[in-house]
Amino acid sequence: MSERIALVPGSFDPITLGHEDIVRRALALADHVIVAVAYAAQSQKQGMFTVDERVELIRQVFAEEPRIEAASFQGLLVDFAKARGATVVVKGVRSVADFEYEMQMAMMNRRLLPSLDTVVLSPAPEQAFVSASLVRQIATLGGDVAPFVSPPVLTQIREKAGGATRLPGAWT
Ligand code: PNS
Repeated sequence: MSERIALVPGSFDPITLGHEDIVRRALALADHVIVAVAYAAQSQKQGMFTVDERVELIRQVFAEEPRIEAASFQGLLVDFAKARGATVVVKGVRSVADFEYEMQMAMMNRRLLPSLDTVVLSPAPEQAFVSASLVRQIATLGGDVAPFVSPPVLTQIREKAGGATRLPGAWT
């Protein structure tokens, strides 16, 4: 029987513990899991981390798991899935808003490539409120993001946000 390959696509700027939980659970659904950072050529440098940095962090986070691969792709998810022989896309869904967004993409991807299925997984309850955008915001404003990301990610965030200081607040 041929190897079942799953894709976990996203921006991963940066990968959070919520993403990690979804990726590890995807291992139960496939033999090989590709965590794929999606990017547009002209926006390589946007966000907190470059695409290469995001891929490297994903590699470090899953270093002990040979069935998980870190990659990046440009263009359509369905084209990358075809090129890599992936038959399933796995996404985490934290809320009704996430669900609507994911369902629309799942249906569009299904229309573009009928052999590609999307599976949505619920988050670990303790990570259900975590998002990469909130992690970036908290880190940039000098808050502690240690509970939300793995140690290699935390180290890199601290380097990036090293110059950040807490904004003077009205409540101090
Ligand atoms: O981290 P996100 O925002 O949930 O990731 C969204 C992502 C990267 C999975 C989605 O934007 C995507 O698949 N982009 C690749 C381009 C593409 O295929 N667009 C059509 C989607 S129906």
